[in-house]
Amino acid sequence: MWKAVILIGGPDKGTRFRPLSLNQPKPLFPVGGMPMIQHHIEACAAVEDLSEIILLGFYDEEEYMKVFINTCRKKYNVKIRFLKEYSRMGTGGGLYHFRDQIMAGNPSGIFVMNSDVCCDFPLKEMLEFHQSKASSVGSTILTTHVAKNESISYGCMVVDQATKQVTHYVEKPESYVSNNMNCGVYLFSPNIFSMLADAIAQKQDEIYTQGGDPDCLIISLEQDVIMKLTEKGKLFAYQSDSTWSQIKSAASAVYANKLYLSLYREKHLHRLSKTEEGGPTIIGDVYIHPSAKVDHSAVIGPNVTICEDVRVESGVRIRNAIILNEVKLCHHSCVLNSIIGWHSSVGNWARIEGTAQQPNPNAQFAKLVSGSLFDNSGKLSPSITVLGENVTVESEVIILNAIVLPGKDLAHSVKNQILL
Ligand code: GTP
Repeated sequence: MWKAVILIGGPDKGTRFRPLSLNQPKPLFPVGGMPMIQHHIEACAAVEDLSEIILLGFYDEEEYMKVFINTCRKKYNVKIRFLKEYSRMGTGGGLYHFRDQIMAGNPSGIFVMNSDVCCDFPLKEMLEFHQSKASSVGSTILTTHVAKNESISYGCMVVDQATKQVTHYVEKPESYVSNNMNCGVYLFSPNIFSMLADAIAQKQDEIYTQGGDPDCLIISLEQDVIMKLTEKGKLFAYQSDSTWSQIKSAASAVYANKLYLSLYREKHLHRLSKTEEGGPTIIGDVYIHPSAKVDHSAVIGPNVTICEDVRVESGVRIRNAIILNEVKLCHHSCVLNSIIGWHSSVGNWARIEGTAQQPNPNAQFAKLVSGSLFDNSGKLSPSITVLGENVTVESEVIILNAIVLPGKDLAHSVKNQILL
């Protein structure tokens, strides 16, 4: 029997995702038409003999979290629980704190996943690999290749290609170590809990002898478990070069949306819309929620997700964008490379446009880099346009490369600005 834990963090995480994480936890932000972590849950639910999925984090379990969990329980027919850390404990601290609940029923191994990754989650393949290589004492890490010059932004490892054993691991190294990077998806053997116990004892000792706040015990999975497993020769790498990207910034959510839609083309074609008689013109990969009303003269795609109860009027053009619940896009408005927040409205002939972000097309294995919002001279770097919740854009207004906080009424055109 197996279990899965999804590390969902808490309200002080996801700062690069603001304003889209201001009123809803970032792990519930929709990409490819469903909350970010529903992709993880869907992949876990497909693993044979997986008995429970645990969401581990320090969000308050508000109504939307309960509704989400109930919906997923019913849809995937799997046990899902939310376990709440009393404060931020780091990627490993919560795992140790809830070890009894996680180990209840004696699982043979535990999948652990970062919530902020977009991935095609090859969990079945990882499990087979784990059983053949790592067996009961080793653990397995999902790795993918990354371009050499980008590798230092990630956890990097050296892998013995004959045995698949990880022989060296460095978290965000100062200089190039390897272009095998940590995808934030693991299959741990139960013995990681003794490693976590050692790490906690060591941290407590340090706090006692060197001073520090005993209530602020942060344990890192990467530093305190992955590196130790590597030193002991107990970490094995399952290598895959299929879909993977981080979801750190709003721009990376638009890119992840594109990746998930293209995965639907391979695996869940029925989820994608197509041009039908009397319906809008669909170009490329597009997801439209069945409750959305889209005028037949609208042109949508590629890489567009339209969420629940959205209204798209005549002549609207949307490309490379996520349109969140209950948005109204009025006649002949245009939305390119943008995210339009919940309950916002875009007036007639208005134009909302951002600059698309994508991995360097000239570098093999390049990933999307979620850089800083500002350049060296303090100017807002060109990126996608984001309208927060409840923003109103008046008719004929142009919004270009801007981030607009919730509740604003925009009657004048704006370019390269954050509107507070
Ligand atoms: P950054 O580049 O600084 O964001 O680092 P990172 O990519 O290594 O991410 P980080 O370690 O902060 O988070 C990885 C995953 O763990 C994310 O899905 C977070 O939401 C989650 N996470 C981070 N800290 C905690 C924590 O204290 N508790 C829980 N349960 N999850 C956490």
